[in-house]
Amino acid sequence: MRDAQPSTIYLSDYEVPAYLIDTTDLAFDLGEESTKVTSQLHIRRNPASKTSNAPLALHGTELDLISLAIDGRTLDATEWTQSGEQLIIADVPTEFVLRCETLIRPQDNTSLEGLYKSSGMFCTQCEAEGFRKITYYLDRPDVMSVFTVEIIADAQRYPVLLSNGNLSATETLADGRHKTVWQDPFPKPAYLFALVAGKLACVEDRFTTMNGREVALKIYVENKDADKCDHAMASLKNAMRWDEDVYGREYDLDIFNIVAVDDFNMGAMENKSLNIFNTSCVLAKPETTTDAGFQRVEGVVAHEYFHNWSGNRVTCRDWFQLSLKEGFTVFRDAEFSADMGSPTVKRVEDVTLLRTAQFAEDAGPMAHPIRPDSFIEISNFYTVTVYEKGAEVVRMIHTLLGPELFRKGSDLYFDRHDGQAVTCEDFVLAMEDASGVDLGQFRHWYSQAGTPKLAVSAQYDADEQHYTLTVKQSCPATPGQTSKAPFHIPLAVALLGEAGQLALQLQDGEPNTETADNTEMVLSVTEPEQSFTFTGIHEEPVPSLLRGFSAPVKLDFAYSREQLLCLMRSDSDGFCRWDASQQLGLAEINQALADLAAGREVAPDSAYLDACRDLLADETLDGAMVAMMLQLPSEAYLAEIFHPVDVIALHRAREALRLAIAIALQAELQACYERCSSDAAYAADAAQIAQRSLKNTALAYLMLVDDDSARNLAISQFENSENMTDRLAALNSLVNSAAPYKADALQRFYQNWQHEPLVINQWFQVQAMCRLPGSIDRVQALMAHPAFDIRNPNKVRALIGAFCGQNSVNFHREDGAGYRFLADQVIVLNRSNPQIASRLLVPLTKWRKYLPAAQQLMCAELKRILAQPDLSSDVYEVVSKSLQ
Ligand code: PHE
Ligand code: ZN
Repeated sequence: MRDAQPSTIYLSDYEVPAYLIDTTDLAFDLGEESTKVTSQLHIRRNPASKTSNAPLALHGTELDLISLAIDGRTLDATEWTQSGEQLIIADVPTEFVLRCETLIRPQDNTSLEGLYKSSGMFCTQCEAEGFRKITYYLDRPDVMSVFTVEIIADAQRYPVLLSNGNLSATETLADGRHKTVWQDPFPKPAYLFALVAGKLACVEDRFTTMNGREVALKIYVENKDADKCDHAMASLKNAMRWDEDVYGREYDLDIFNIVAVDDFNMGAMENKSLNIFNTSCVLAKPETTTDAGFQRVEGVVAHEYFHNWSGNRVTCRDWFQLSLKEGFTVFRDAEFSADMGSPTVKRVEDVTLLRTAQFAEDAGPMAHPIRPDSFIEISNFYTVTVYEKGAEVVRMIHTLLGPELFRKGSDLYFDRHDGQAVTCEDFVLAMEDASGVDLGQFRHWYSQAGTPKLAVSAQYDADEQHYTLTVKQSCPATPGQTSKAPFHIPLAVALLGEAGQLALQLQDGEPNTETADNTEMVLSVTEPEQSFTFTGIHEEPVPSLLRGFSAPVKLDFAYSREQLLCLMRSDSDGFCRWDASQQLGLAEINQALADLAAGREVAPDSAYLDACRDLLADETLDGAMVAMMLQLPSEAYLAEIFHPVDVIALHRAREALRLAIAIALQAELQACYERCSSDAAYAADAAQIAQRSLKNTALAYLMLVDDDSARNLAISQFENSENMTDRLAALNSLVNSAAPYKADALQRFYQNWQHEPLVINQWFQVQAMCRLPGSIDRVQALMAHPAFDIRNPNKVRALIGAFCGQNSVNFHREDGAGYRFLADQVIVLNRSNPQIASRLLVPLTKWRKYLPAAQQLMCAELKRILAQPDLSSDVYEVVSKSLQ
């Protein structure tokens, strides 16, 4: 909590550390009342620092200092001062050993940052600045140190004691206590430190690396969860092999540990050789986990593993460089997941997240470049911009260089910077040096916020047989950045003719060698306005633009309905096919809005319905693609398109349209449902996931009609399916229907799964997301349910987060009850867990998008939060910036 106005930190103020810490020896005496932490730091002045006699200023918060000694001499209280988060020792030698004893109270730590307790075990979370809650330290990523960690604890309660690196000693002590010592040979910043102590089951496996190193793989979980680790283990081994095959990266220690904890602010954390995971990102079995859950486990396990190189061996100089490790690692895990499953589905999912959450962030009050220039609280910058847009920026480099030169670039980057804490600039430079490709203008992607807009128009000259694309780029102003320099945008294109894709030859251009068959090309858009003329075009083509979503931009091209139908039916690029279906869906929603406003019945266009009908009937198509194409643009996506957003009108139009589609295609939906039902044993593979996804999309449509036959399908699927994907899909459609059975279904689901917290979270979420009126009352009632616990972030996200973030029509209730509810929860959480409070707050910060009446109500709640005493810096930053 802050005592003064929190201050802003600027990238431009960066200075190298005045001191370095060569070795860090920590001893933890874990107790039920308090924990004693003793540190011995080998410190010396940094020869690279310009300030020659700077005092030693260590970070530390919420610590009880017991003693300080330099080279064995205890300091008295006049020899140090404390100010804010800093402990300052004015007079220190050029090289010395600092010994420091502190007392902390992990059992009272509800922020889940530093050392805390979760379900009876001790665990840590130190990124970004949590280590300072454990002991006084230079808590910044460019201070890297070799850690030795001694842990003493009660042997009965905490039989498992873990830290980073290798186990070097174990000892049984008097009074039923025991001790372990861990040594990590790799120098690391404090944010990668981890400690775990608890009663845990261990699931073990082995992996042999490309050079024959035998690695012990261990997943530690509560005893009851030992049967839910197979998928994480398989994913880990796949990720280890993939990183060898695709990046030439080998694991570097003899042991790799994963620990699952119930209370965790984020998905997981890449601590060196001791990854700590939210249970939701590691546990999976068919009976309790949906397909999406399985895929999330695979992706997050891989993400954390990949950090061992992109994050740990090469880390960040400062937190402004966060996207250096996160953007790159998200790109790596996305490519991995694409290789393990369906590449198109993965791409569409990622684009969907980007175009909803990230575009919204980029257009809102917290907009920031992937490398921010300033922040108040770094925890607020673990954003979709830094992660997902950061990954898109790395993807664009991959596209501009091609896979071989990109690999040369990543080899050079890892080689050049192994063991260092570096910047985004170092990454780009390695890519340039290895490839010879000039990324000068491309660097604007790192420094400029906002989503660029590409307005494309086309002209066909039949006499000359020329086809010209004219591209105009622009980027809206964002906070602190009023005008923007033009970006370097890779625009992947193809031209569709009667008989397929046309061969591409640019006028005055080099022969196109981009693709084997010359029919796809990546145009480098660099000017505010630029034309590209293709020669030898014998017919007027349909342009397929931004193929694979080759850049994170908003593309505008005045397609006719016929052109979109053509793309939707026959484009070879999965993203463009899907996107055409979304643009057609958007046109239908616009029509439905107009129809409802005029008091007419909503009637979808017949060509659109025919296209949907064909999709449903074509058994040769990828079911997952069909499922995605049949879904109308989400309300979150619509909120990015309409200005202002009339939530309730949009919701009504979209729902009326869905119902009309369901009625028109009822027979086809039914046939599709039956075709996709199968008795095969569950597997989380692409084929089965596709089939379930199509089946459940059909079920959701059929349940809109809500007749007996649909209800019977849903009820029997709910009662008979053996996997959570199908059971939850059925429950979801029942809960959103008028079927009297739904109360029973909810009750039975709870009875059956009350012993599985992750399943109960899904039960909370289904109810929180119910579109029917009255959801807010149900959510409020559920907050008093014995299974709810506001200290557990997963439960907060499942109930409060899902309601406020994914149930627009109820959250935006016209009387403002949704806004008031969210503000109330933020005020409570601000005290116990500021990181969760400030994340939860995001839907309110988008107030400028909505109708004037909603704006006023939302603003009033933001002001009420701002007026609270003791606002955390996390909440203060988000609220104050969103009111500016
Ligand atoms: N570094 C983690 C990841 O992306 C995320 C994280 C950040 C976890 C901060 C906890 C706290 O994998
Ligand atoms: Zn990460």
